[in-house]
Amino acid sequence: MHKRIAILPGDGIGKEIINGAIRVLNAVGEKFDHQFDYDRALIGGDAVDQEGTPLPEETVTICKNSDAVLLGAVGGPKWDQNPSHLRPEKGLLGLRKELGVFSNLRPVTCFPDLADASTLKTEVIEQVDLMIVRELTGGLYFGEPSGRQMEGGQETAVDTLYYTRAEMERIIRKAFELAEVRKKKVTSVDKANVLETSKLWREVADEVAEEFQDVKLEHMLVDNAAMQLIRNPSQFDVIVTENMFGDILSDEASMLTGSLGMLASASLSADGPGLYEPVHGSAPDIAGENKANPLAMILSSAMMLKYSFSMINEANAVEKAVQEVLKAGYRTGDIAQDHTTVLSTDEMTQKVLEYL
Ligand code: IPM
Ligand code: MG
Repeated sequence: MHKRIAILPGDGIGKEIINGAIRVLNAVGEKFDHQFDYDRALIGGDAVDQEGTPLPEETVTICKNSDAVLLGAVGGPKWDQNPSHLRPEKGLLGLRKELGVFSNLRPVTCFPDLADASTLKTEVIEQVDLMIVRELTGGLYFGEPSGRQMEGGQETAVDTLYYTRAEMERIIRKAFELAEVRKKKVTSVDKANVLETSKLWREVADEVAEEFQDVKLEHMLVDNAAMQLIRNPSQFDVIVTENMFGDILSDEASMLTGSLGMLASASLSADGPGLYEPVHGSAPDIAGENKANPLAMILSSAMMLKYSFSMINEANAVEKAVQEVLKAGYRTGDIAQDHTTVLSTDEMTQKVLEYL
């Protein structure tokens, strides 16, 4: 097969880890006889510096004309004081909206060899295999009004949590479809004891559940879900939730894998190109030092092979290579343990290539 992939390195370690993903994809192409072509484009702080906007028009065009998009990370202290529309994060949110990627899949599986890199007890996390399905183009991140103003001499700020029934329905249905081919359980996370959006969310979840008789639906309040993720994470199969709750719970859940540096994600639309990015950020503190963990980025490219290109064997081969590397005791600094060998970003990529 022949595929065009848009490459958006972004900021900080994004630039380093994305090269790892490209090297792995090239090796996959050779091994399985596919051709991958890459178009690079700017996003985030980099784009603000070079083009005066975090999401240049050209970037959107390149992404829309691609078969899938790989993105490193955006953000950094350099742009923290910028006005909202010139913040790197606006570029990422804008791209998600432009591509209509409402469905964000964040798989969380414990790598047995990393179990003791987690701050949680091994026996709590070793059975973990869950999928967070986060709504990605609505909710508090996009609701209007949003902004600041003066009211009666007082400064105020507002954000709006807004969803249409249709937006809820499509993401909840996605969660059920995934659960059908997994352990057949959906946990819908909301705050229905307080929020109106959550009350509607719960009703919609009950309705969608009717279409999937073999999948069990459970409702859980978000505060309880945060607690249960730490107390007994292996009770979960698919967790579906709105944008902001999903943002918070997925960072929390990353600790179940040992490190945030291991968590990959796929963001899918109804029909256009998918967007693949690691869950972690741009890690400005270690940027440019060739120290970053490229595995979440590499695993994100494996998700691309699977979800956008239906290259299941190829995706499995990449995932297996990552597991083998960990098993053989190779680590980057963030997941280093006693008796393991700490590698640089490039060396870690090289190891994955060897095992591939
Ligand atoms: C994530 C990130 C982003 C988000 C930021 C960078 C805007 O935290 O993908 O989880 O909040 O969605
Ligand atoms: Mg986040």
